[in-house]
Amino acid sequence: MNANLAASNPYDAERVWRDFPILRREVHGKPLVFLDSAASSQRPASVIAAVDRYETYSHANVHRGVHQLSQEATALFEQARERVRVFVNAASTREVIFTRGTTESINLVAQSYGRARLRRGDEILLTALEHHANIVPWQLVAEQTGAVIKVVPMDRRGVIDIDLVDSQLSERTRIVACAHVSNALGTVLPVREIVRRAHARGAVVLIDGAQAVPHQRVDLQALDCDFYAFSAHKMYGPTGIGVLVGRESLLEAMPPWQGGGDMILTVSFEKTTYNTLPFKFEAGTPNISGAVGMAAAIDYIDKLGIDNIHAHEQRLLKIATEKLQRVPGLTIIGTAPVKASVISFTVDGIHPHDLGTILDAEGVAVRTGHHCAMPVMEFFDVPATARASFACYSRDSDIDALVAALARAREVFG
Ligand SMILES: Cc1ncc(COP(=O)(O)O)c(C=O)c1O
Repeated sequence: MNANLAASNPYDAERVWRDFPILRREVHGKPLVFLDSAASSQRPASVIAAVDRYETYSHANVHRGVHQLSQEATALFEQARERVRVFVNAASTREVIFTRGTTESINLVAQSYGRARLRRGDEILLTALEHHANIVPWQLVAEQTGAVIKVVPMDRRGVIDIDLVDSQLSERTRIVACAHVSNALGTVLPVREIVRRAHARGAVVLIDGAQAVPHQRVDLQALDCDFYAFSAHKMYGPTGIGVLVGRESLLEAMPPWQGGGDMILTVSFEKTTYNTLPFKFEAGTPNISGAVGMAAAIDYIDKLGIDNIHAHEQRLLKIATEKLQRVPGLTIIGTAPVKASVISFTVDGIHPHDLGTILDAEGVAVRTGHHCAMPVMEFFDVPATARASFACYSRDSDIDALVAALARAREVFG
């Protein structure tokens, strides 16, 4: 079966792998096998070079200076915004707000939209598989406003049933906030349908797209959600930069959430008027080199083709799932029929942290822990899991290295 899959896939993962300089290094004297891309993916040479070029030749502050460097930096920053807009098919660059990442994007919505609009007894609907970044900001705003958090349960596979979402929606639901893809389980949620049903009840929808954007085509106009959040560092770009895409009419009506330079039109000690979108939500000097790197990362993804990346990762997911299922004592946590390239697992008799340490000694980097999704761990009654996650540069040989390292771990633990 694997031979057939290999034959039907022309994607050249070896060539892609060579675009990522870090992957050529060794750890503990062994070739690095990097299977922790869901936490943060690596950067191709083109992204590193674009950031380096910007830092070397064009750095200055943006939106302020008339001098050449400031003009160049401003042009690069705004071109990056347009690059992001096209990539996710947002309606306008006015809807594309640069943030520090998914976490900040969600906090922005919770504090600006939520805090201004939520009243005592209003409901915020989350799902059972959310990352802490899509739980805690809502708890904070619930405490501030008296709103109530409700949670749509998942089943033992890690699936969120759309009918359960429907049954939890009520006349008081103001906000539905859910992951597009679970980082802990790999589950892909039926977000289009969630948006449709939430809108039918008059609720706005925020989608946490941190784990979706690097792995599948995301078309925000087709999705029709109100807010969508993601991070550059999970999609081959730099850390410290991400995006909130918001519906323009909502963003227009929302108050600024941080004050400072660039988000204003006029300031006096009596009164301040605010800048237009998207600048109203971008107080202070932004992460300019980060935006340049994010644009280069999108160029890189486009060069490979997001649909090709998706097909490649799905193929690896299938092969890895089959091979891991044959490892004695290994249980895969999260068996939804539609998954992204994330496999969480436990091995009988070996604590995930010990497992992670032994795999690391073999050069294999996997994530171990609760993956910032403690309610998921509690639901599956495990203290933690080991998680292997694939990216565009992952290769079949990485799966073999993982399986061999798991055999080694079982030897060590007898
Ligand atoms: C599903 C999900 N949401 C949110 C986040 C937070 O992203 P960031 O740390 O880039 O803000 C992550 C990162 O692990 C994630 O996987």
